Amino acid sequence: MTAPLHVIILAAGQGSRMKSRLPKVLHKVAGKPMLHHVIDTARSLGAEGIHGVIGHGAEQVRAVTPASDIHWALQEQQLGTGHAVAQALPAVPDGVIALVLYGDVPLINPETLVALVSRVSERSLGLLTVDLDNPEGYGRILRNDQGRVIAIVEQKDASESEKAICEVNTGILAVHSDHLKRWLPQLSNSNAQGEYYLTDIIAMAADEGLAIEVAQPSHEQEVQGVNNRLQLAELERWFQRCEAERLMSEGATLADPARIDVRGELTVGQDVLIDVNVVFEGRVTLGDNVSIGPNCMIRDASLADNVTVYANSIIEGAEVAEDCQIGPFARLRPGTRLARTAKIGNFVETKKADVGEGSKINHLSYVGDATLGRRVNVGAGTITCNYDGVNKFHTVLGDNVFVGSNTALVAPVSVADDAVIGAGSTITSDVAEQDLAVARARQRNIKGWKRPEKKA
Ligand code: UD1
Ligand code: CA
Repeated sequence: MTAPLHVIILAAGQGSRMKSRLPKVLHKVAGKPMLHHVIDTARSLGAEGIHGVIGHGAEQVRAVTPASDIHWALQEQQLGTGHAVAQALPAVPDGVIALVLYGDVPLINPETLVALVSRVSERSLGLLTVDLDNPEGYGRILRNDQGRVIAIVEQKDASESEKAICEVNTGILAVHSDHLKRWLPQLSNSNAQGEYYLTDIIAMAADEGLAIEVAQPSHEQEVQGVNNRLQLAELERWFQRCEAERLMSEGATLADPARIDVRGELTVGQDVLIDVNVVFEGRVTLGDNVSIGPNCMIRDASLADNVTVYANSIIEGAEVAEDCQIGPFARLRPGTRLARTAKIGNFVETKKADVGEGSKINHLSYVGDATLGRRVNVGAGTITCNYDGVNKFHTVLGDNVFVGSNTALVAPVSVADDAVIGAGSTITSDVAEQDLAVARARQRNIKGWKRPEKKA
């Protein structure tokens, strides 16, 4: 049996090149702070302990990371990566594997880490390296004549020949905590940067005869750190490309894989069609044959089979059953539930609205805090007046109700099955089954009306 895993996430650095008031690790990739990506990865590995080393913006970082499963360690001064790990170490038990991750390297793949950790034993250390065309700035991996790793030398301490080495340190490594606790107090800061380098433990391990077992990521972007907003944008694009490829592999057609953004968890059925510039946030589920038009925003919603969403619609917190049609230019707000074959047309806003099977709200309406039966027809310009400035009230429309255009339904009000509301009505009292309600001033026609004339 392998030892339990403890993950140490380094996140104390300032990130001055971001030019931001926000601590670097809180900048988002795919709608989620980079640090939270790393924490989620640590959790997915089944870590027994997760340790966050924070310094710059520590209060802010903790505030947006309310997770109770994280041990925070404060590194008041950033004296180097070795010093950072040492701050977390008192809370790391003996006899476990410690995996060091960076809070600003958000897209490391759990499978890569599983491979790395599997190389760790009491006699071996796991080191994640990568070969780069341009190794500038990174620590270089030094190997002996047998090809065994013997040390890491930082760029600023490297000789010209060492600088020519293209295999670099990703910063990610895994090692038994007992070794770490022995080595870290021995680190010195007599180097070009005056820092306590975590990387110096590689030479210590090699000197003690431990094997340095190297693993490499499948993609360079996995180990890409973010130091500025350009790198942040580049990782965002890479993440989105991977999401697009996943969706296509699961049976979705994307009009343009470069013009979709998934910031959350998107699940798709087969033969889903997604046009350009669609943004998904939170948890979204799309059934089979769902079609999403261009420029839509869909957040925390489920759309069942055969739902069509036309261009420029916004759907949030809604549950949509089979065969519904939405948009163009519709806005479904939280608490909207559409039963099968319902239709929500252009410039219609719904909120906390239960819309029955086959009902239609086709044009220019606001329907909020309402329950609609089946086959209700809501005419253009209908408004549920649900708010008196303090309280919200409910509107109920029974099955087969027909609401004429430009109707104001002043809640609380209920209209029973098969009733009809005349166009232009302001409905303030309940309407019984099959009744016609007309609530508007009668028309007067004035004979021979003289229109005003302009003076010459
Ligand atoms: C480090 C490695 C280098 C590697 C590179 C990969 C060392 C000495 N060097 O260099 O070999 O190629 O990462 O990107 O380890 N941090 C703290 N506290 C500190 C210092 C750093 O929390 O006192 C955190 C930073 O916030 C960052 C990470 O550790 O997340 C790496 O620090 P950084 O200064 O970027 O390390 P490099 O000098 O780039
Ligand atoms: Ca760095």
